[in-house]
Amino acid sequence: MILLTGATGTIGGLLAHRLAADGVPFRALVRREGVTIPGAEVVVGDLDDPATLPEAFAGVGQLFLNTAGPYPDEEPVIAQQFAAIDAAVAAGVEHVVKISTAGARADGPMPLGTHAKIEARLAGSGLAGTVLRPNTVMQNLVRGIAIFTPDGDLFEPFGGKVAHVDARDVADCAFAVLTGSAPRGGTHDLTGPLALTAAELTTALSTALDRRIGLVQPGLDELEPILLGRGMPESYVKHFVELARLVGAGLLADVTTAVTDLTGNPPRSLDAFIAEHRDRLRGVPAPSFWA
Ligand SMILES: NC(=O)c1ccc[n+]([C@@H]2O[C@H](COP(=O)([O-])OP(=O)(O)OC[C@H]3O[C@@H](n4cnc5c(N)ncnc54)[C@H](OP(=O)(O)O)[C@@H]3O)[C@@H](O)[C@H]2O)c1
Repeated sequence: MILLTGATGTIGGLLAHRLAADGVPFRALVRREGVTIPGAEVVVGDLDDPATLPEAFAGVGQLFLNTAGPYPDEEPVIAQQFAAIDAAVAAGVEHVVKISTAGARADGPMPLGTHAKIEARLAGSGLAGTVLRPNTVMQNLVRGIAIFTPDGDLFEPFGGKVAHVDARDVADCAFAVLTGSAPRGGTHDLTGPLALTAAELTTALSTALDRRIGLVQPGLDELEPILLGRGMPESYVKHFVELARLVGAGLLADVTTAVTDLTGNPPRSLDAFIAEHRDRLRGVPAPSFWA
């Protein structure tokens, strides 16, 4: 049995969809009664409450480990994923596929350091593990995670190339490893086929949406007061600024062959994603902290 955490989220939801489409049995851990996931045996449990986990983990052979990103603090996410690893050890799970992040590193800001700590816990658990490190997912553009200002311009302070990956390709990589068409083990940096600067991204968006999308790109020195002034939680701002510095220095710029290596298919392109999501991109709101 394969157990999915985060199956109501973006990456986990796409994996659930893929497993169901291929008729692969799986179980999904959800936090609320009444949630249905096509194709899944649904079990109610909460990673914040480890006492609810043994029932969900009973008889599980493989775990897909994936929760929300660490925002605005990392402690809850670390506690949730440590609890899942502990429950997997207790239940005799054989193999874990962990969704991490591109650039994970122990001394890094959130989310890089957060995922590095969880990767280390998994490595030290005795469980077999496969770590998938996605670059920035294209779906951020339509989820209110990429920052569009109320004027519809892109606020992108990172100043480095980003090799956006389609979350469907991330899900397909997890699918391949969990179902045995790709080998278990290793750490895989998942990217799309191309790395773009923010200026190139706004050009691609402007062309596809047939209107000029501006780029708001403050320097690193200006960033902290802007973010604080816009209401980003203080605990997160220093992490965001450090992340911007690292991305500016090329953290997310490398293009890899990992998606093709694991799935046998080339990664989906950003142009195709934008064309497919044109209508939704026209109406993306500014995030709630951008008051
Ligand atoms: N977005 C990116 O560009 C990107 C890039 C690289 C890596 N990542 C990483 O990818 C991971 C997944 O991101 P995502 O955007 O797919 O996440 P998401 O859409 O926010 O989904 C998060 C999932 O975790 C579940 N969850 C949260 N707290 C839980 C708890 N206490 N117990 C059980 N389930 C819980 C949520 O369930 P509910 O429905 O109940 O809330 C939801 O299903 C994150 O770790 C993120 O850091 C993201």
